[in-house]
Amino acid sequence: MGDITAADLAKKFQVLFGATPKIYRAPGRVNLIGEHTDYNDGFVMPAAIEFYTWIAIAPRQDRKLLVHSTNFLESAEIDLESDEPRPRNHWSDYVFGVAVMLQRAGHHLRGASLLVHGEVPIGSGLSSSAAIEVATGFALLEASRLTVHRVELAKLCQRAENDFVGARCGIMDQFISCCGRAGHALVLDCRSLDYRPLPLPGEVSLVICNTMVKHELASGEYNTRRAECEEGVRLLSRFLPQLRALRDVSLQDLKKYSAHLPEAIFKRCRHVLSENSRVTEAAAALECADLSMFGRLMHDSHVSLRDDYQVSCAELDLMVELAEKFPGVFGARMTGGGFGGCTINMVANESVAEFQRHVASAYEKSTSLVPRIFATTAAEGVAEVLR
Ligand code: GLA
Repeated sequence: MGDITAADLAKKFQVLFGATPKIYRAPGRVNLIGEHTDYNDGFVMPAAIEFYTWIAIAPRQDRKLLVHSTNFLESAEIDLESDEPRPRNHWSDYVFGVAVMLQRAGHHLRGASLLVHGEVPIGSGLSSSAAIEVATGFALLEASRLTVHRVELAKLCQRAENDFVGARCGIMDQFISCCGRAGHALVLDCRSLDYRPLPLPGEVSLVICNTMVKHELASGEYNTRRAECEEGVRLLSRFLPQLRALRDVSLQDLKKYSAHLPEAIFKRCRHVLSENSRVTEAAAALECADLSMFGRLMHDSHVSLRDDYQVSCAELDLMVELAEKFPGVFGARMTGGGFGGCTINMVANESVAEFQRHVASAYEKSTSLVPRIFATTAAEGVAEVLR
């Protein structure tokens, strides 16, 4: 699916930096179900996809980090000796943010030259940011001959995004980019970080439909939703003193205390609680290959995100509606943070080609936007690419 090979990237690196690099790549992701639950200590079910951010890297004699992006055709640099960089609202924040967090956690990095090539479409809900963070972290550690457990790396990359880039994302995206398993989704408990790989049934494909409406995660709405969940916890903990996160609330208790919550907060909480139950049910459905049940849960998840969490948009709703009408589709829903971006669809293999044609043309007719629709398989997490 990629548009570059390791050999191409190595050649470019040689021209730019005059050295032979090692090559790493980290995947983007789709989330099958469990949206906006990760930062509430809840459950998610992502799969890594075959779109990667690639990094070519070679160590340097000094302690500078020099980074060039093939996407932005720009370079940036920091000196690990002298400055602790400040975010500049620039693509290089993802790279330098990870370097800062690794160093703060006590990992002494060598200087390095890096060439970054991103294939994950930016701002489409497929986690291009986690892919660049994880690829950077993994590459910097390897270039410094350091090893960090993959789960630890995911946490440090999340910290880079939270505290450096300024988006208060949960752990899901960085986790799956580190720990993804080919052919599997992971069901992840975002509190304990225990996870279980679930094999994806061979008779269906994961089809991603990009609405081509861009979202801006770092911008207000995502952080507002997080704050609303925290407000829910604060208000409910007056009655439920043991409460640490929405994960700990039952639907029964939420209803019992609903009069004490503003309506919007009540709805946000209801989404999180119902979504957590759906992930557990969806994992059980997948384990016994009950795709109709899985599809129903995807549908309910979308409705809850649209009506209770209010993070969908007209284009996502339309894309789901078109998909659900199509024979051979088990389930469809928005995936990722929302406000645009992509839907994820479970489609019978033999219906994929017709689905692509039909949905693309109906969507274009209604919106005048040309969507990108592609089937993907679940990919492996971050790794070195050997030439
Ligand atoms: C973004 C964030 C994730 C998660 C999803 C919504 O992708 O990075 O941590 O919160 O939104 O499920």
